[in-house]
Amino acid sequence: TWTTHNVVDEQIALIRAQVGDKRAICGLSGGVDSAVAAALVQRAIGDRLTCVYVDHGLMRKDETEQVEKDFVAATGVKLKVVDAEERFLSALKGISDPEEKRKIIGREFIRVFEQAQAEIVAEAGEHGESVDFLVQGTLYPDVVESGGGTGTANIKSHHNVGGLPEDLQFSLVEPLRKLFKDEVRMVGQELGLPEEIVQRQPFPGPGLGIRIVGEVTKERLDLLREADAIAREELTAAGLDREIWQCPVVLLADVRSVGVQGDGRTYGHPIVLRPVSSEDAMTADWSRLPYEVLAKISTRITNEVKDVNRVVLDVTSKPPGTIEWE
Ligand code: XMP
Repeated sequence: TWTTHNVVDEQIALIRAQVGDKRAICGLSGGVDSAVAAALVQRAIGDRLTCVYVDHGLMRKDETEQVEKDFVAATGVKLKVVDAEERFLSALKGISDPEEKRKIIGREFIRVFEQAQAEIVAEAGEHGESVDFLVQGTLYPDVVESGGGTGTANIKSHHNVGGLPEDLQFSLVEPLRKLFKDEVRMVGQELGLPEEIVQRQPFPGPGLGIRIVGEVTKERLDLLREADAIAREELTAAGLDREIWQCPVVLLADVRSVGVQGDGRTYGHPIVLRPVSSEDAMTADWSRLPYEVLAKISTRITNEVKDVNRVVLDVTSKPPGTIEWE
């Protein structure tokens, strides 16, 4: 029978069998999946695991600091933080196509991991084992939606499934590959991870890069980060975090509309709020958020975020719309 206890024991045994006495690295994204995958692998192989957090410049406000603090405090894991903002932004320059963005981000992630791998080996000295394994928090729905399941069309290249380069130098360790999100949360709890990590809402690996419709630039990212921080702050203040699955905030960077602010005409960008309710992200419904909360978010974003003069609400279920816009 399925119990989280059994899943943990079984996965630990499998990880030990797979990794042997070698080393592994795990990309931490700040999300539940990679955190739980890392905690499982740490249980299995101890400090032969090094976590790598890639700051690709596509994170939300204060997210990097949070990962550095919360996860290390909870697990005592070895963490390497790589500042790769310039690398990602220059690779994404001029790119608007969603699948191209996903593939580029996936590829750059791996390149950064490979570099981190070389550094970890060098730091370990001549008796250090090589790092042959890459841990990923891939879930069952990721596998299915990237076309890895049987008979399912490829919907999007999730960066940790469909977006890996062909010359990958690692073997993958994916202990969550058969699990759904709620099961991953239970496993996290069983492993003793704190609530702030276990109950975090999903956030995609490619980050804000797939929440800017159009080219990704530093300026646009900063703008979206401000809008997103306001939406999250107000949703938390209204006590809605546990009611919604997640609320992507999207910048329509290639769209402009006319507005009036102060006593002048503006020609700014719209921000889309995409609050959804879901059990497993395979299907979702748009969340009926209270009007007062929506009003507050809209007023604050248009007042506080430069170049945004309109806030719109996405009232589409999945299907037909996916949760993220790209
Ligand atoms: P979609 O947009 O496909 O999203 O309906 C389903 C869920 O998956 C998240 N998502 C991702 N997570 N890497 C991830 O780790 C990705 O590339 C990715 N793309 C989407 C999304 O936020 C939602 O929870």
